[in-house]
Amino acid sequence: MALHIINHPMVQHKLTIMRKKETGTREFRELLKEIGMLMGYEITRDFPLRNVEIETPMQPMIAHELSGKKVVVVPILRAGLGMVEGLLTLIPAAKVGHIGMYRDETTHEPVFYYYKMPDGKDRMVILTDPMLATGGSACDAIRRLKQDGYSNIRMMCLVAAPEGVKRVQMEHPEVDIYTAALDDGLNENCYILPGLGDAGDRIFGTK
Ligand code: PRP
Ligand code: URA
Repeated sequence: MALHIINHPMVQHKLTIMRKKETGTREFRELLKEIGMLMGYEITRDFPLRNVEIETPMQPMIAHELSGKKVVVVPILRAGLGMVEGLLTLIPAAKVGHIGMYRDETTHEPVFYYYKMPDGKDRMVILTDPMLATGGSACDAIRRLKQDGYSNIRMMCLVAAPEGVKRVQMEHPEVDIYTAALDDGLNENCYILPGLGDAGDRIFGTK
């Protein structure tokens, strides 16, 4: 379905700092958390509201509250974890599922190792992973969620390659993708260019 590029100045500024090679783990992690929350504003923009009668200390009024489906935030481990806290700041009632997969270093194909979801298949899934490169990990994760009965899925990443966007749109056309940047493409190791390097390593300080 749709590709949403979040070009809000605060998101773009923070992403630029994250891209710099001299930015360290602590700052990188903090910025990803902040961007997770800011992007959450956009991903929840169309959430429906209903009218409710309340009383302020001054008088009764008709106010608005969320009326739509409940949310489950689902990070693809490891790097997707970096966006969870920011999203939960915005949607504190959300539950959290986890999908574990890593890319094989030679084939660049995702290797699945963990799946755990809370109850409630009617929840909206916000799948998080900062990097959408070949799209293999995202497509496998979405397929797994659909097999499990989820049908309302949105993908939140930070940097996407055209190859990954194309693949998700072909295999899962009903899934909206939200990203802060659409980069140029992939190198021979399927890393995004210009990208920001290995997101998991930069979040957790590993190599
Ligand atoms: C990275 C990233 C995505 C995947 C993207 O994970 O976080 O999950 O690669 O690549 P793809 O679109 O080509 O599948 P990685 O395998 O490095 O695992 P990690 O998060 O545990 O570091
Ligand atoms: N995974 C990353 O962490 N970075 C990339 O550029 C591609 C996949």
